[in-house]
Order: sequence, then structure tokens, then C-alpha cells
Amino acid sequence: MGRRHRVVAEALKGVLPEDRIELAVKGFDLVGDVAVIKIHEPLEADRFLIANALRNHLPHVKTVLRQVGAVEGDFRTRRLEWLCGEKRTVASHREHGCVFEVDLAKTYFSPRLLHERTRISELCRNSAKHENIVNMFSGVGCFSIRIAKQPGKRHVYSVDLNSDAIKYQLRNIRSNRVRGTVTAILGESKEVIESFFQKRLQRIVMPLPEKSYLYLKSAAAAIGQEGGTIHYYDFTYAHKNEDPIQKIIQKVTRKLKTQPRYFSIEYGRVVRSTGPNWYQVALDITLK
Ligand SMILES: C[S@@+](CC[C@H](N)C(=O)[O-])C[C@H]1O[C@@H](n2cnc3c(N)ncnc32)[C@H](O)[C@@H]1O
Repeated sequence: MGRRHRVVAEALKGVLPEDRIELAVKGFDLVGDVAVIKIHEPLEADRFLIANALRNHLPHVKTVLRQVGAVEGDFRTRRLEWLCGEKRTVASHREHGCVFEVDLAKTYFSPRLLHERTRISELCRNSAKHENIVNMFSGVGCFSIRIAKQPGKRHVYSVDLNSDAIKYQLRNIRSNRVRGTVTAILGESKEVIESFFQKRLQRIVMPLPEKSYLYLKSAAAAIGQEGGTIHYYDFTYAHKNEDPIQKIIQKVTRKLKTQPRYFSIEYGRVVRSTGPNWYQVALDITLK
């Protein structure tokens, strides 16, 4: 049992029958003082009971919301139902010395990408030369701000389609004091890099696993002549005898083989499992 499931099980002890506790909560995230839970359908009628039990068990939780359905649409947002506590969907989340303000109903945010944000920002630390970086799918700015906080010289252009995400990102840029290093851009990332960044970038972050593949060629064309790195995310289905990382490597190789640059895939990892046999995979691709 993971830590999150243990917390839920402890909170529901004596509230639900023992045999229902394991089943009740399918997902549980803490974003600042807001808990977002997913409830197993057969137990939906107990959702207020479950939410109140969680809030009583975790005194720092001020609001409990229920995620209804999957993350969806171009903005990758979710439908939320208020269950108990303060009636709001805005939260302030702390991560490695940064604070991210986010409206969970209007923008994408996941505390589960902490490891990836830490990994990528540490790869950017102390780069020998100044880097121009584009985050193509930046949301409220978490990757961009974590990167900007590292020692070293760089500028991060941080693009998103969602005007609410950019509104919160501008606040986060100010509150985390990275105004000189991060520029938020409201726009469609393919248009932005094709119009302004052809062969001008040393690093690109592509945290939109549902669609990054469609943008890969434009990203490759934006890397400068001296070379650079693309941090690429994708989803795949993999049977027990298949390696999800290899599947994505093959998919990316097929795509990049049709462009003129020499490339190599330096690193790959499974970020998380998103369903039975479904995986989110990260690759670091170098273009020479
Ligand atoms: C999965 S979220 C990533 C958010 C962020 N990187 C983070 O770690 O919190 C994907 C973001 O890409 C944005 N997006 C989707 N399609 C886009 C496009 N074509 N151009 C720019 N942004 C896009 C969405 O609005 C959303 O904020």
C-alpha cells in the first residue's frame, strides 16, 4: 500500500466498513491545502462522508474536491465537485522552495510531476553557455520556474494556449522572483516556435504527453546549429513482455529519421503508470 493510500485508509477507519475502505478512494492528491480525490463509482453516495473524514484526519486540509471524469480538452483541465471545507478551487502549492498558485478548475496542475521537474531543472543547472529554452506546454509555469531558479545563465520562453494558465503563470513568475529569466507567452506553441525560434534554441521541454509527438519535428527544427536537447513526454500501452521506454524510443526514432539532423536518445524513464498497462514515458533527446 502506497503512502497516499495508507493516509486514506487511516482516515476512513471506523467511518466505512473495513471491506469498503480499500476500494473507496481511487486517487488522492494534495495541492497546497486542497485535497483532490477520485471516488470509486459504487461508493459515490458516501462521498461527503469520505471527504469529511479526510478533512478531520488531515487538519492542514481546508478544502476537499472530487475529480469527476478524466483530465480533458486542449487545456488538460478536470471537472471538480466541491465536497467540504472552504468553497474554492484555488490553491498555493510549495515545491522545492517555489510556490505555485493554481486554479485547479481552470488550469492543469499535478503534484505528481515533482520528480520530473526536479530532474529536468537539475539537468539545466550550471550549463557552460547561456541557453535559450522554450517550454512548449507550460501551464502555470512549474517546469519553467524550477529551471529558472537553478544557478547558471539562461532565458526560458514559457508558452501556453490557456489564458488562465498564463494569468497564474505571470503571478508565479513574480512571486518566485524570476521576472528577468522567464517570459510567459500566450499562444499556440507550434506557431510560436516556427515564427520566432527557428534554429535559435538550445533546449526544449515538451510536457504534453497526449500530443508532444505531433510537435516533435517543429521542435527539432528550432534547435540551433550547435545542437541541443529536447525533453520529450509520451504515453504508451505495453504488454507485460514489452518495454514501454523502448516502444517510445522506436516511435520517436521513426519520426526523427525523416528530418536531416543527427540525433541520439540519451535517457528514458517511466514517469508513472496511468492505467493497467499504460505508461507515461520521458525521453531526453540530443540533436547534434
Ligand atoms: C499537461 S499540461 C502541462 C503543464 C505544466 N507543464 C506543468 O507541469 O504543470 C499541458 C499544457 O499545455 C497547454 N497546451 C495544450 N496544447 C497547446 C498548444 N498547442 N500550444 C500551447 N500550449 C498548449 C495546456 O493548456 C496545458 O496547460
